[in-house]
Amino acid sequence: PEPGWALHTDVVVVGSGIAGLSTALRYVQRTDTGRVVLVTKDRLSTGSTAYAQGGIAAAMAPEDGPVAHMVDTHMAGAGMCDPLAVNLLATEGPDALRWLIGVGAEFDRDDDGDLSLTREGGHRADRVAHAGGDATGAEIQRALVHAVREEPRIEIVERALALDTLRDPDTGRVQGVTLHVMGEGERDGVGSVLASEVVLATGGMGQIFAATTNPPVSTGDGPALAARAGARLRDLEFIQFHPTVLWLGAEARGRQPLISEALRGEGAYLVDGEGRRIMRGVHELADLAPRDVVARTIARVMAEQNTDHVYLETRHFGRATWERRFPTILASCRAHDIDPLTEAIPVAPAAHYASGGVEVDVDGRTGVPGLSAVGEVARTGVHGANRLASNSLLEGLVYADRIAARLATEPGAVPTSAVTTGSTVTLASPSLAPRVRTLMSRHAGVLRDGGGLRTLVDELEALAAEPGPAVPDTAAWETTNLLTVARLVAAAALGREESRGSHQRSDAPEPRPGSRTRPVIVRLEEGDI
Ligand code: SIN
Repeated sequence: PEPGWALHTDVVVVGSGIAGLSTALRYVQRTDTGRVVLVTKDRLSTGSTAYAQGGIAAAMAPEDGPVAHMVDTHMAGAGMCDPLAVNLLATEGPDALRWLIGVGAEFDRDDDGDLSLTREGGHRADRVAHAGGDATGAEIQRALVHAVREEPRIEIVERALALDTLRDPDTGRVQGVTLHVMGEGERDGVGSVLASEVVLATGGMGQIFAATTNPPVSTGDGPALAARAGARLRDLEFIQFHPTVLWLGAEARGRQPLISEALRGEGAYLVDGEGRRIMRGVHELADLAPRDVVARTIARVMAEQNTDHVYLETRHFGRATWERRFPTILASCRAHDIDPLTEAIPVAPAAHYASGGVEVDVDGRTGVPGLSAVGEVARTGVHGANRLASNSLLEGLVYADRIAARLATEPGAVPTSAVTTGSTVTLASPSLAPRVRTLMSRHAGVLRDGGGLRTLVDELEALAAEPGPAVPDTAAWETTNLLTVARLVAAAALGREESRGSHQRSDAPEPRPGSRTRPVIVRLEEGDI
């Protein structure tokens, strides 16, 4: 579509979770005159960050250190993490957390005023900072949104879906994005933001699955846009399934209430319907094993016992612990008529986090000049085959500042007025979305096999060939992104013929020696993968 209006700025940031807000803030803090346009698909706070419960990991305790954090990150990542990216995450993490506190985020503290730190799966030290008990993301989002709104050099455009990149016709460099704004007045309809750099911070893609912890906005818009721009996507097969969302029945669809791993950090444990502990003897860390191990064990128990959920036992916590440490989860259980003070909580795994994404270097460059990515949309290499709990908020913070530092010192290319839209897109009909989700959950869930993945690839290709919609509205663009990303994930999962981390194939149940150094990379070429 041809843009009807245009904004000009230095940097356009797409997305308003921890990664996008931090990039915008850090960039203006690092420059005297630099300006940012921050665009977000819905309102500023509707993304995943605000739903984060457990916390943000950083080696802050005297008995902890960045090296121990690195070791745990590599162990969880099943040998697939990038050592430099992990090193930067762990060593720059404590300063990044201090910056966030300086911005105004208030974390829980002990009686001496020190940060109160807890544990989650895969951590061998207490290093997870939390706020409001289990409302960590909401507090981080509050503080960052407040700071961004106070900053006159950041202009916010809400309810704006980024459609595609704008390119310099001579060099091919990305020089902005087109937007579909569902607003009012002068900013309604299709417009554009011209900038010397586009930073994607669009978050995740959980909505390609039938059941997910992700909010409705997580439709994979960033990876789809980047793929259309020619970027490489890497490690997409490593979709992390959170072991415990509140089980709301076999037909439950969309965002499911998260039951934080921090509960297990405080002593909760998983049992089957007969009350038998299912994690004992499976891993040395038992209920605090890395997330992929726990999700896989739950899936195995459910298959063996022909059931669709297990239980999380927390009755020994008592009322005071529940009310002080986990008020959000308590309220969410009670809203569904479950009282964790008197009964075990029914739980099941659901799609949670994309450990892979748009391939970037440690300064956020995608390989497409003018296009950067940060946060869940990006693949820096810190998560490998399975992200360590609470490393994602930290990654957003650390890598946002690395991008901001680079952009503050690199001379930006001034956009020409002759930019062109990057690609031709065949839009998908919104009615395809439920079919994509059902197929993805059936064939690309916690346990996969080659036959199912082949069927998935073929059926998604058939959906992509169906006629497009009459009206090219936001819903059609979202469905197009959802289908594009599902096809990319399915192709990546078919391409990795082994089991590793959160990618588990019953037809290839072991890791393959040497495969650690063989990444699966997918990209789009004229709509084909
Ligand atoms: C949780 O609180 O269990 C989720 C934390 C995370 O995904 O890192």
